[in-house]
Amino acid sequence: MSLYAIGDLHLHFDSELKAPGQLTGRVWQDHERIFQENCASLIREEDTLVLVGDHSWGKKLSECGKDLDYIAALPGRKILLRGNHDMFWDVKKTEKLNALYEGRLFFLQNNYYAYEDYALVGTKGYTFEGPFYLDRYGHVAGWDEAEAAHAEKLVAREADRLQISFEAARRDGYRKFIMFLHYPPTNVLQRNSVFTKMAEAYGASQVIYGHCHGESRFHDSIRGKKRGIRYSLVSGDCLRWHPMKVLD
Ligand SMILES: [Fe+2]
Ligand SMILES: [Fe+2]
Repeated sequence: MSLYAIGDLHLHFDSELKAPGQLTGRVWQDHERIFQENCASLIREEDTLVLVGDHSWGKKLSECGKDLDYIAALPGRKILLRGNHDMFWDVKKTEKLNALYEGRLFFLQNNYYAYEDYALVGTKGYTFEGPFYLDRYGHVAGWDEAEAAHAEKLVAREADRLQISFEAARRDGYRKFIMFLHYPPTNVLQRNSVFTKMAEAYGASQVIYGHCHGESRFHDSIRGKKRGIRYSLVSGDCLRWHPMKVLD
């Protein structure tokens, strides 16, 4: 039995493709077929695959049916996290989604899922992405203060949701955690955030996130070991559509 993670499939079987880079970038060419084949050769029915958001370009559930069916048809247990582009997923309707896809897909929001003696916890998260203002040497000299203040509110709301997930698991006796986010845990200027601090406070052994696309964004946040926690970026293009093994 193994645990895998990947994110940002950005499927559009039944909706309009909204990212031009997805048409032109080589890594995106036929990525649906490549990913399906990689899963088929790697993942067994007893395994778990966590998909860390940005599943579909569909604006509402009726435009996401084929995308979610594609994910449901992959091998193993599929656990989904919300990404910033998942407009079909209203947080307050997570229970409805879980009922609708019962036994086929598992939606992670204000709840948790067990994997052996680990609790898989998570939320979308949020990260301030600018605009940043650069000086003539290309160093960050400032940023949009209003946007940064707005971002703080979104970060606080997502931190509350993450805490609900951790606490639900802890109430049920779990002491080992793998933490999932869609957004990176820190912005490009930060070394710590409310998310890294929460991971440390609860003793998560790994933090896994997506959202960052293209070589120039792959190092926007923490990767590798920091203060005993392993941080991994698992956006699909970064992993070239090979799910990352999280645990054996
Ligand atoms: Fe995203
Ligand atoms: Fe994405």
